Amino acid sequence: MRIEEKLILNELRELNVRVNLVNVDNISLRLDEEGEDLGIVLVRLMSHVKAGLIARVLNIHGIMTINKGLAIENSWNKAIAIAILARTGISVVPSRLLLSTNPQYDGINYPVVIKPIHGSWGRLVSLANNNDELTLLLRHKSLGDAYSRISMVQPFIGDGTDYRVFVIGDEVVASMVRKPSPGDWRSNVARGGIARAIKLDGDAYETAIKAVKALDLDYAGVDLLHSNEHGYLVNEVNAIPEFKGLMNATGINIARKIAEYMLNIARR
Ligand SMILES: Nc1ncnc2c1ncn2[C@@H]1O[C@H](COP(=O)(O)OP(=O)(O)O)[C@@H](O)[C@H]1O
Ligand SMILES: [Mg+2]
Repeated sequence: MRIEEKLILNELRELNVRVNLVNVDNISLRLDEEGEDLGIVLVRLMSHVKAGLIARVLNIHGIMTINKGLAIENSWNKAIAIAILARTGISVVPSRLLLSTNPQYDGINYPVVIKPIHGSWGRLVSLANNNDELTLLLRHKSLGDAYSRISMVQPFIGDGTDYRVFVIGDEVVASMVRKPSPGDWRSNVARGGIARAIKLDGDAYETAIKAVKALDLDYAGVDLLHSNEHGYLVNEVNAIPEFKGLMNATGINIARKIAEYMLNIARR
């Protein structure tokens, strides 16, 4: 368990909620019959693949999970998430999907960011300043498996600074800005990015709340980039977000808020 799961567990116990902790790696789940009544299941796996799958199976059998299985899968796939959000009228980072490593990429304005459709902590998120650099990056990808040959290409927005807006239900509970560390342009805290609390304007919060709704999520960490020309744009939505850094930066007890949200749902 990460610190996040421990914190949520403590808060649920404090609220006198009966909690059953299950490590899905230690169980086998029946697919062909309805299981026992599990109450509400908070899905907090590190593996989004396992998380989405198990939540979907539970949902099919009528068990409520937070987040829902399909919502976890749709959010984890950056290409699907961006398409759903754009279709819903939400401002997103303009993105193209490249299915091969030798695409026709006329009309791309450099610099561009190239990234895997699944990933976190800034892993394999790269910058190409011209055709040659993009070709080289794609050539490296061609050595990988079918999934790692697929990538997303985006214009470089702002200066790599990103904004994390944490939404529970239809409310923003906390937000912070992350600035890249000197010498990098990726603001992931895992890469030395510096986080601090920030209050954003209503537009940013409205965009984040709409994104959570559009993806059918109960709660999420919505990451926005900002450009002077286009304002706040959704870059990615985290359906199983970590929040230790956000709690430290803002002093807001996110774990408590997630626990309270669950309790409210259970009482409905
Ligand atoms: N299109 C972009 N323009 C500018 N910076 C970007 C862009 N895409 C990603 N970044 C920077 O790289 C970081 C990691 O990229 P991101 O898409 O969030 O992937 P991950 O899921 O690995 O965090 C972002 O937090 C941001 O600082
Ligand atoms: Mg990110």
